Amino acid sequence: MRSFFVLGVLALAASTAAAQGANGKTLYEANCKKCHGVAGKPSDGIKKMNPKIETFDAAFFAKRSDADLEKGIAEGKGKMKPFHEKMKPDEIAAVAKYIRTLKP
Ligand code: HEC
Repeated sequence: MRSFFVLGVLALAASTAAAQGANGKTLYEANCKKCHGVAGKPSDGIKKMNPKIETFDAAFFAKRSDADLEKGIAEGKGKMKPFHEKMKPDEIAAVAKYIRTLKP
């Protein structure tokens, strides 16, 4: 009984470490920057090709919860491909958190 408890605590510690390990900035720069821009503002060229792409500003985030952002990233939308096969849920959560810190 006692050893099960210890194992549970260890598993929890490991998953917390993994969540902290997922680096939103690194993931964003590797997977998202080319369309969404380094600071969350897409370039004019990208905007021309994807008129629906939005700047990650306060108005954008006012319309979306964390869950909406994570769903949009996981499932994709329009010309944006889904990321659920490329990124683990904790990585999607980390990148969703990171885009809120951008200052476009
Ligand atoms: C190939 C270009 C491209 C890449 C790469 C890309 N996106 Fe997008 N993204 C788009 C476009 C275009 C839209 C607008 C889709 C629409 O509304 O039709 C969009 C929309 C979004 C939205 C809004 C979804 C909603 O709720 O309306 C979020 C959030 C987002 N992208 C985050 C990301 C993140 C995070 C990454 C990297 C993991 C990423 N995108 C990678 C092109 C891209």
